[in-house]
Amino acid sequence: MIRINDNYLKLQASYLFSDIAKRVAGFEEANPDAGVIKLGIGDVTRALPESCITALHKGVEEMAADSTFRGYGPEQGYDFLREAVAVNDYQSAGAEVQADEVFISDGSKCDCGNMQELFAVNAKIAVPDPVYPVYVDTNVMAGRTAAWSEGRYGGLVYLESTADNHYVPALPSEPVDLIYLCFPNNPTGATVTKDELKQWVDYARENDALILYDAAYVAYIRDESIPKSIYEIDGAREVAIEFRSYSKTAGFTGTRCAYTVVPKECRAFDAEGNRQDVHPLWNRRHTTKFNGVSYPVQRAAEAVYTEQGKAEVKELTDYYLNNAALIRERISALGYDLAGGKNSPYIWVRTGTDSWEFFDLLLNKASVVTTPGSGFGACGQGYIRISAFNSYENVEEALDRISAALG
Ligand code: MLT
Repeated sequence: MIRINDNYLKLQASYLFSDIAKRVAGFEEANPDAGVIKLGIGDVTRALPESCITALHKGVEEMAADSTFRGYGPEQGYDFLREAVAVNDYQSAGAEVQADEVFISDGSKCDCGNMQELFAVNAKIAVPDPVYPVYVDTNVMAGRTAAWSEGRYGGLVYLESTADNHYVPALPSEPVDLIYLCFPNNPTGATVTKDELKQWVDYARENDALILYDAAYVAYIRDESIPKSIYEIDGAREVAIEFRSYSKTAGFTGTRCAYTVVPKECRAFDAEGNRQDVHPLWNRRHTTKFNGVSYPVQRAAEAVYTEQGKAEVKELTDYYLNNAALIRERISALGYDLAGGKNSPYIWVRTGTDSWEFFDLLLNKASVVTTPGSGFGACGQGYIRISAFNSYENVEEALDRISAALG
């Protein structure tokens, strides 16, 4: 008899963003003229930078001639992109990362979700609360948790991120093995200081733990004092894996390209407590289960690092940050406490009421989609997340409608 993986039965309903999409589709069907404005899922709306489009076209043209055609590429990514990442995203920022430590992939969601496979099923997992649901759900699927009870999965250590700690959680009070961190944070928009990040690196070193550091929103950092990479912290190479993506950086949500850095020194331990390098294990996994990102898309990602590409990425992210500033200003003016929206495209708003109720209120009265904070964890109850990813005009219109609905 073919048995299913019982762990899947522990999962709560559907994936958060699928759940929201279904509700919104139902609303749109019932109200076809409502003109719904989506500030929910962090999906970009502006076109790819021109430099990326030019490189993409050129890559496609190369595929059109036998002499320049490419079949399977290296699973880890083409050297031209791995080299560009190492030099531009790390070495030029004073962080030591080599090209062969960069693994190109089709998304950070997949990488964050897949990375847990490398670690023991009884590894103790710590996740922030609120949290990007992928970190939690993939560990549930892998069998690292007990059942769902009172808004949380048994067996996970939840690191509470609240207004009291400025959404930067304290170190765990019990031993943990694998720690997920995300800065600038999804969903709260919070950032971390170098000193705070150093505490986490020191913790991992002292406790033989490992940090999975999600830096998908790094392109929104404007404050020079905020660390962009965990590898800016001494000692991090041994204890941290970093995820980055072109999705929010250069509008690649539909184009798909990201990367994960696994330093050669990064270590975990076998059952006897012997040190094992993580790099060859991730390489093994990646080469076995993944066949690389398409050549034209990798060329498009490479173009992000040209002078023109850098300027275009800055312009693109500035545009969304400008939306974020407007959201902050207008929602604050309505009397709501909020966080994020500076160095981040997400604004985390305290609603004072149940998150889903507030979500429904904004959907039904303003035809604006947000994300209910409780979907990100128990500490998100009483919050909603507003995303700055839309046109300025739509954001303005959404804020007018929200003001009217809440006023
Ligand atoms: C979000 O809205 O949290 C993100 O868009 C989800 C993702 O990047 O997968």
